[in-house]
Amino acid sequence: MLVSAKEMLQKAKAGHYAVGQFNINNLEWTKSILLTAQELKSPVILGVSEGAGKYMAGYKTVVGMVNGMLEELNITVPVAIHLDHGSYEGCLKCVEAGFSSIMFDGSHYPIDENVEKTKELVKIAHDKGMSIEAEVGSIGGEEDGVIGAGECADPNECKAIADLGVDMLAAGIGNIHGKYPDNWAGLSFETLDAVQQKTGDMPLVLHGGTGIPEDMIKKAISLGVAKINVNTECQLSFAAATREYIEAGKDQQGKGFDPRKLLAPGAEAIKATVKEKMELFGSVGKAE
Ligand code: 13P
Repeated sequence: MLVSAKEMLQKAKAGHYAVGQFNINNLEWTKSILLTAQELKSPVILGVSEGAGKYMAGYKTVVGMVNGMLEELNITVPVAIHLDHGSYEGCLKCVEAGFSSIMFDGSHYPIDENVEKTKELVKIAHDKGMSIEAEVGSIGGEEDGVIGAGECADPNECKAIADLGVDMLAAGIGNIHGKYPDNWAGLSFETLDAVQQKTGDMPLVLHGGTGIPEDMIKKAISLGVAKINVNTECQLSFAAATREYIEAGKDQQGKGFDPRKLLAPGAEAIKATVKEKMELFGSVGKAE
């Protein structure tokens, strides 16, 4: 069932667990994530970056694919299609295309401009019954061309953005997109705690979910994180399983070159990664 992310995240925040946002790249990704969410009775958010949206032949194609799968695969758990790190224009396009949720990443603007643009988009999204995420303090690293320096958010700025009525807030707390370097200082729980104190019931979003140790994930959830984004980890498991298949020469045996066979181990690997994350985040069984 395609829904806005608002209700599932409010429930997660109140219930002290987190809903996973898993970014999609193609049909295999989408199918693996949806089937796992259904099997585990977990709500789920499908993240679509602007680059991935373009790769998948546009936002309307994505919405058509997801809606088709929800019906044909009998997916009854709550599912949101969410624009990840959207520009102002990208947000407007996704509202048009039938997404159920958007993220406006105005973290690279001066705070006044971030507030102004977020405010406009909150109204547009809410008029359509969609949820909206905003960001304060950038997430480090690079994702699909969006590059962040990784500075920690100012809790007062978080409050200013939260007060605009966004449904979820991404606050930079030392998290990074992609793999974490060996010398990573870890998440700043001090910042997270201060942000949560200023923003109350607001579901907080932890980007850069790949490679964060389990104890840090659990602590972040205990401090108000209700949505955790995972992208790179599914890519790594897909690539490893595909590599193993090819290195074993299986693509050269019988009809092993058939894309339905060639991509199957990768698709299964994505399912295993998503399952592991949903169990860690505590969202299993929450859609029953
Ligand atoms: P990772 O690729 O590090 O898992 O980050 C995903 C993310 O935050 C998407 O916005």
